[in-house]
Amino acid sequence: MDQRPVGMFDSGVGGLSVLSAFRELAPNERVIYFADTANFPYGPRPAADVRKHAFAITNRLLAAGVKLIVVACNTASAAAIADLREAFPVPFVGMVPGLKPAVRQSRSGKVVILATPGTLDGELYARVVDEFGRATKITNAAGVGLAELVERGEASSPAAHAIVREVLGPAITAGADTVVLGCTHYPFLAGVICAEFPGVGLVDTSEPVARRAVQVLREQGLEAPPGAPGGIDIIVSGDRAAFRTVMESLGFAPVREAVA
Ligand code: DGL
Repeated sequence: MDQRPVGMFDSGVGGLSVLSAFRELAPNERVIYFADTANFPYGPRPAADVRKHAFAITNRLLAAGVKLIVVACNTASAAAIADLREAFPVPFVGMVPGLKPAVRQSRSGKVVILATPGTLDGELYARVVDEFGRATKITNAAGVGLAELVERGEASSPAAHAIVREVLGPAITAGADTVVLGCTHYPFLAGVICAEFPGVGLVDTSEPVARRAVQVLREQGLEAPPGAPGGIDIIVSGDRAAFRTVMESLGFAPVREAVA
């Protein structure tokens, strides 16, 4: 049993999709969520730059006493997870685009991976394609501008509909029936994607990643005691009021703000 908090980070509100799944599964854990909005977006940045931010955040979370870190960002996982695991003495759980479940779920044998350029260019994704995607027609769709809309609280705006139509349209018209949400901001666009392409299947890895974090806590004897109250503390590197507004617009109740 271990009373220390779990650390979790993303470039902004995206990782809240993972946080919410984790809270459902482990309500008695305390989570410190770090939103690196001062450096948002990560997607278009060079991997070395994202890695630098991931290291800085990890140091900050470790100074706050966390027992495990969830990298709730596909782009940061692609850029840094292997190096983080090597450099720091805590367990890390990261995001991997859900190609494996998509391949299983697709009936047409054609799937689209919607992710940031940083994720699609990364080695981690290349490895996943190599391992699970050989017999499937995979189309990469870079969601340029989509995370930005979610981060501004415009996840269901006409602009979001237009970008979704533009980036997913060609592959879906060509027969793809499954879309992998390969960025933690994208589960907040699920309604828009389903409205634009009724019947298309979505793969969201928030819940499996949250489940994996719970499993690692259990395996390593790091779980909070059963009666612990749990809770969420938020650290925001950029504009705190703006983050709070978007967070609440995405349906998250007001939470305690940790000292940044
Ligand atoms: N949420 C991040 C991810 O999962 C990316 C958003 C950004 O571009 O910063 O990839």
